[in-house]
Amino acid sequence: MVIKMNVILAQNLGFCYGVKRAIKLARDSASPSVRTCTLGPIIHNPQMVAKLAAEGVSMVDDLSEMQEGTVIIRSHGVGPQVYEAAAAAGLEVVDATCPHVKKAQMAAHDLAAEGYDVVIVGEKCHPEVKSILEWSGSTAIVLESVEETSQVKACGKLGIVAQTTFSGEKFRLIVAALLDRANDIKIARTICTATDQRQEAALAAARQVDKMLVIGGKNSANTTRLAQLCTEVCPTEHIETAAELQPAWFFGIKTVGITAGASTPDWIIEEVYKKVQDMESLLQEEARTEIREHEIITGVVVLVTREEAFVDIGYKAEVAIPRAELAYPLPESAKDVVKTGDEIKVFVVSRGGENGIVLSKVKAERMAAWDEISAIFERHQPVSARITEAVKGGLVAEVCGVRGFIPASQLELHFVKDLSVYVGQTIEVMPIELDVRKQRFVLSRRTLLETARAKQQEEIFASLAVDQIRRGTVKRLVDYGAFIDIGGMDGLAHISDLSWQRVKHPSDVLQVGDEVDVVVKSFDPEAKRISLSVKGAVRDPWLDKAEHYREGSCVTGKITKLTDFGAFMELEPQFEGLIHLGELADKRIAKAEEVVHVGDQVKVKILQLDRKAKRIALSLTKAQEDAETAEYKEYMAGQEVKPATLGDELGDILQKLQ
Ligand code: F3S
Repeated sequence: MVIKMNVILAQNLGFCYGVKRAIKLARDSASPSVRTCTLGPIIHNPQMVAKLAAEGVSMVDDLSEMQEGTVIIRSHGVGPQVYEAAAAAGLEVVDATCPHVKKAQMAAHDLAAEGYDVVIVGEKCHPEVKSILEWSGSTAIVLESVEETSQVKACGKLGIVAQTTFSGEKFRLIVAALLDRANDIKIARTICTATDQRQEAALAAARQVDKMLVIGGKNSANTTRLAQLCTEVCPTEHIETAAELQPAWFFGIKTVGITAGASTPDWIIEEVYKKVQDMESLLQEEARTEIREHEIITGVVVLVTREEAFVDIGYKAEVAIPRAELAYPLPESAKDVVKTGDEIKVFVVSRGGENGIVLSKVKAERMAAWDEISAIFERHQPVSARITEAVKGGLVAEVCGVRGFIPASQLELHFVKDLSVYVGQTIEVMPIELDVRKQRFVLSRRTLLETARAKQQEEIFASLAVDQIRRGTVKRLVDYGAFIDIGGMDGLAHISDLSWQRVKHPSDVLQVGDEVDVVVKSFDPEAKRISLSVKGAVRDPWLDKAEHYREGSCVTGKITKLTDFGAFMELEPQFEGLIHLGELADKRIAKAEEVVHVGDQVKVKILQLDRKAKRIALSLTKAQEDAETAEYKEYMAGQEVKPATLGDELGDILQKLQ
C-alpha cells in the first residue's frame, strides 16, 4: 500500500505581531537575579507558558503573589488599577500589552471621558474585553450579539469599541443595530486585521485540502474560532501539540492543511508539520498491520480449550474464537476442530469486541466456499449436492458447504410428488443461478438429465432401423396405446399394435413395468418420434392355426355371426371363416338366417385359406355336395358285382343238409 500525502501550510499562521512582541519582552526581562513573572498566562498557549517558565519567566495569578521583581503585563492588557497596584507594590512593570489592544483600551477611556455612553463589542469573559471595560471606567456595556443590543437605551452620544480579535462581520451587524440609539455615534475601529487575514488564509487552505489541522490552545478564543471556520469547509482537527495527531485521521487523505492560532509558537507548528509528513511512512506501517473488518486474514492457533481457540493474528493480544465460530454444525469441543500450531483463515467480523476484534472461522470458510461456488458457476460445471431438507417448492442442498436450492421443477424430467425421498441422497446438479450478495444459489438436476437424454436419444436414433426388434419396458399406458422405453427413449405402440387379438384397452395385454420385445415400425429423429409394435415381434397365432387346415377339407364349426353377405363360422377359438350367401344354399336366398342361425353346428368345406389376407372362405353347400357324393359313392361301391364261389352262394343250405 503506497500512501502519498501533501501538506499545505496556510498563510499568516502562528504568532501575530502582538504575541511575538509580548514573548520577546518576556524573554528579554528574564533575569537570574530578579524574579520575573507574567500576570496570568502571557498568551493562551500552555506549552509556551511552560517554556517561558523553564526560561525563568513564571506566572502569577495575582499581584499579591509578588513582593518584588518584575511583572509582565500580557498582550491582552489589564485595567489601570493593575498598573497602580504594581507601582504601589514597588514592582517593575514591563508592559507587553499588544499595541492594538492598547489602542482599544485608550479608545474606550477617551470616549468615556468625552461623555459618550461606551459599548464594547466582544466576548464578556475575554481578558482583553475585561481590560477595555476597566479603561472605560467600568461604565461600558459589553455586547456579544445583535440580540443583546436591546440592552442599549437611546442616548445622546454613543461610542463603540471592538475587541481586537472579534469577527468583523458580527461587529458590523451589531453596529447597524445600534445606529438608531443616538444622534452622535463614534466608532473606534479597533479590530486587528491580523485576525481577518489569518482566517481568510485558513479558509483558502481549507478549500484545497481533505483535512485541516488547526493548532493552538484549546482555551484560545481566536484558535477555537479558526477551527470552527475550517470545520465548515472540510474535516478539521483542533490540536494543541503534535502528540495529539492520530494516524486514523489520515486514512484516504491526500492533502492536509495546517494553520495555527495567534498564540501558537513556531516550534509547535514545526513539530506538527514534521509529524504529519512522517505520517506517510507511519500510515504505510499501520496499513501493513491494520486489521480491517470484513476481511479474511491468517492466524496461528496458540491455545485450544473445549469452548474456544486462541489465535495469534499479529494483534496486540491473541483473539479467542468460540467453538460456534470454529465449525458448523456446532462441534462438541473446539479441540475437535483445531489444534495448537494450526494456521487457519479467519474472517474479521468486527473490531468492536472485548479484545477489539471478533473473528469467525466459519464465516471465512463460508466466504471461501462462495468463492469456490462462483468459480464453479463461471465454469458451468456440474457439482455433487447433498440433499439436506425438503421444503415447500423444492429441496435444500449443500454444495461445498454452501446452502443451495433445487426447485421441484428442476429435479427430474417428470413431476415428483414426494420430495422427501431425496433427503440424505447425494446427486449431481448443475448451478443455474448465483447471486453471492443475496446468497442465492439455485441448482438443477433436470438440466443434466436433459443433456444426458438428448445425447442418449441421438445415440438411439443412430442405432434404429425399421423392422428392428428391440427389448423395451412399458413405461406408461394410455387409452390409445402404450409408451415403451427402448433404452432411454420412449416409443409409442398403438393399441392396434399391441396384440394379434382384439384389444379394448392396453391394460388388457400390458402392465407398466412389463418387459417386451417390440418391432420398430418407423421413427423420426427431428420430431423425436418412434412408432413400435408389440404384436409385430411375435408370430401371428392365426397362421399357426391355419397350419392345421387344408383347402378342400370339410370341418364342423359353430355359426357365430350373421351378416348381409353371409355367416361367420368359428372353426376354433379366434379362428373364423366366412360362408358367403351363395355358399349357404343351392337356391338363391336373401338372408343367411333362411339357412343357418347363430349357434348352429354346421359342416362346411374350406374353399380357400388366404394366409396373407388372413381370410377363410367356407361353403355349406359344397360340404353338403361332398357329403352326398361320398354317400353316393359309398352306395355305388356297395352295388359292385364280385365273382362268387358255390360256397358263397349255397353255404347256408349245404350246412343244413349235412
Ligand atoms: Fe495584537 Fe492583533 Fe495579535 S491585537 S495580540 S496583533 S491578533
